[in-house]
Amino acid sequence: MSAPAFRAHWSLDPDVHYLNHGAYGACPTAVLQVQSELRARLEAGPVRFFVRQYERLLDEARATLAAFLEAGAEDLAFVSNATSGVNAVLRSLRFSPSDELLTTDHEYNASRNALDWVASRTGAQVVTAKLPWPAPTPAAVVEAVLSRVTPRTRLFLVDHITSQTALVLPIRELVQALRERGVETLVDGAHGPGQVPLSLQALGAGYYTGNCHKWLCAPKGAAFLYVRKDLQADLKPLTVSHGHNSPRTDRSRYRLDFDWTGTDDPTPALCVPHALRFMEGCCPAAGPR
Ligand SMILES: Cc1ncc(COP(=O)(O)O)c(C=O)c1O
Repeated sequence: MSAPAFRAHWSLDPDVHYLNHGAYGACPTAVLQVQSELRARLEAGPVRFFVRQYERLLDEARATLAAFLEAGAEDLAFVSNATSGVNAVLRSLRFSPSDELLTTDHEYNASRNALDWVASRTGAQVVTAKLPWPAPTPAAVVEAVLSRVTPRTRLFLVDHITSQTALVLPIRELVQALRERGVETLVDGAHGPGQVPLSLQALGAGYYTGNCHKWLCAPKGAAFLYVRKDLQADLKPLTVSHGHNSPRTDRSRYRLDFDWTGTDDPTPALCVPHALRFMEGCCPAAGPR
């Protein structure tokens, strides 16, 4: 597809050469149209929509996303953005003054702030690994991170693709090396989905959060949090709601907690399958495999 034909699918200002897609994403008009239809359906009967249709629609959207991410659908929750995913993990875990929270000097500012804030409340210490620069090799990155691991390291927070420097970090090697040392990794994959192939099941990270509203071009407010099964019991969304004491036994507490965090517009998440299909049509490498 030629560049002008490609661009015609977006409502971007034609007078602007829009290069910074990574900042906030941009959603094709066809996907926005689906979102409008979903919103109209919701507003035509809010109770009917939320009580009778929402759960099934959310499950369908999650199943499609799970297939794309090669993750178990039961391990995925929708969140509003990667920042919320990072915060949900950091604020769910309990740290103590003897703990060290490891990150890198390329970490995204908002995520680093969340780490600093959680550390300051618990007395834990943030340790920053300096990545080799300007020519980092995967082996040198792993070595730089491992050199800062101690018996007190509790968690490693790392960007999959760094924001300021656009490095694709060797996530698989890092997750594995840290896991061998008893340390779980929280991957901030804000830019991962749609940019690099993902197989979350195979990756084995404790936690991976990613945006659908950046490179998958879903409407804003569509993101996910993957939590490995053995860690789900300790996780809570940023907003605790009905799921916490739900008597239902047909779904995990993780799913019950994250699938309802109060009344909100669920259409960004529900549009994810449409965005995936659209992107597959435009640029097959980014769509479902
Ligand atoms: C590495 C990284 N993490 C997190 C974010 C935040 O994404 P969001 O604003 O969708 O939470 C960004 C935004 O560009 C980012 O580059």
